[in-house]
Amino acid sequence: MAVKEIMDTLANQTVANKKLSELVKDIRLVGNVLEVIFMLPDRTLESEIREKAMQALKEVEGIGEVRVRFADMTPPPQQSPAFQRRRLPGIKHLIVVGSGKGGVGKSTVAVNLAVAFSKLGYKVGLLDADIYGPSVPTMLGIKNQKVEVDAFQRIIPIEKYGMKVMSIGFLLPSEDTPLIWRGPMLMKALMQFLFDVKWGSLDFLVLDLPPGTGDVQLTLAQTVEMDGAIVVTTPQDVALADVKKAVVMFKEVGVPVLGVIENMAYFVCPETGNKYYIFGKGRVLGFAQAYGLNVLGSIPIEPEVSETSDTGVPVVESYPESASAKAFLNIAKIISQELERR
Ligand SMILES: Nc1ncnc2c1ncn2[C@@H]1O[C@H](COP(=O)(O)OP(=O)(O)OP(=O)(O)O)[C@@H](O)[C@H]1O
Ligand SMILES: [Mg+2]
Repeated sequence: MAVKEIMDTLANQTVANKKLSELVKDIRLVGNVLEVIFMLPDRTLESEIREKAMQALKEVEGIGEVRVRFADMTPPPQQSPAFQRRRLPGIKHLIVVGSGKGGVGKSTVAVNLAVAFSKLGYKVGLLDADIYGPSVPTMLGIKNQKVEVDAFQRIIPIEKYGMKVMSIGFLLPSEDTPLIWRGPMLMKALMQFLFDVKWGSLDFLVLDLPPGTGDVQLTLAQTVEMDGAIVVTTPQDVALADVKKAVVMFKEVGVPVLGVIENMAYFVCPETGNKYYIFGKGRVLGFAQAYGLNVLGSIPIEPEVSETSDTGVPVVESYPESASAKAFLNIAKIISQELERR
């Protein structure tokens, strides 16, 4: 029996013109006891929802007992029209690394910038906000680690390279566990990563976003104060077209765009020292100027970068003399100066 089957069953039941599945806040299965927590739009509907849910779920195979509970009535922040952004207590600068397109190197940039901030002497946290495809644990060589909670039920982040790190990957039983959780549950987990993780006091909390301009980006923008967004792109037109969407989105939700990072900007042939602009030259600069944005730096294509993503030692740590490591350190300096100036 899967979550989908439960949701489909509940979708076939309606109360006050609403599908029961739309009212689900959480689902827990312990042994063969299924507990479903509903949001209650109206107190008078309580018994009708309970009866219909119990009746329908009884038929699902593999469930021994069904318990129905109701959540408190405060609407979650993402559903509240007049959203209130909160500052994360103790965190001086919260920055997000995003792009409009997948695979352009956001996670690589987020991880290496975080390590670079740490090398510059700042207190740093790194939050893998890519709840659908977490890659930070692999990139830092901590993919089998599990987190613990303290006496106040706060999650204790994993420490690596002098940083505090949190990812949904630390909560999954194994690396190849498929993420069968539904969006709202993952989103709730992400909110917990922000507010219920023992981050302590940090100079920088770096968030690695999933690709695109979807629900994670919007929910975050409505929930927390973000001090700046960094947009990663490659010089290809197709990536640039998508990056426009990301820039527009950050502007629309009122998050200042600190600038653009051009990744995979060029390749230097190790034999000849010749520079090849594989994905095009000058396009990112032209694009940034058109949007009144800074180019924070350009990262070359280097085998060291991709190799170290897999081995779990980011290039800033493993090859500090490489051109990409130097570029990351330089970008970290530019960003810290910019944010400290404000
Ligand atoms: N400058 C670079 N030189 C060489 N390889 C790179 C470079 N930047 C990124 N890569 C490699 O490209 C791949 C994609 O990078 P990464 O996972 O950081 O992208 P992403 O934008 O986070 O992807 P997703 O959208 O899936 O989250 C990785 O294997 C990474 O090692
Ligand atoms: Mg990524």
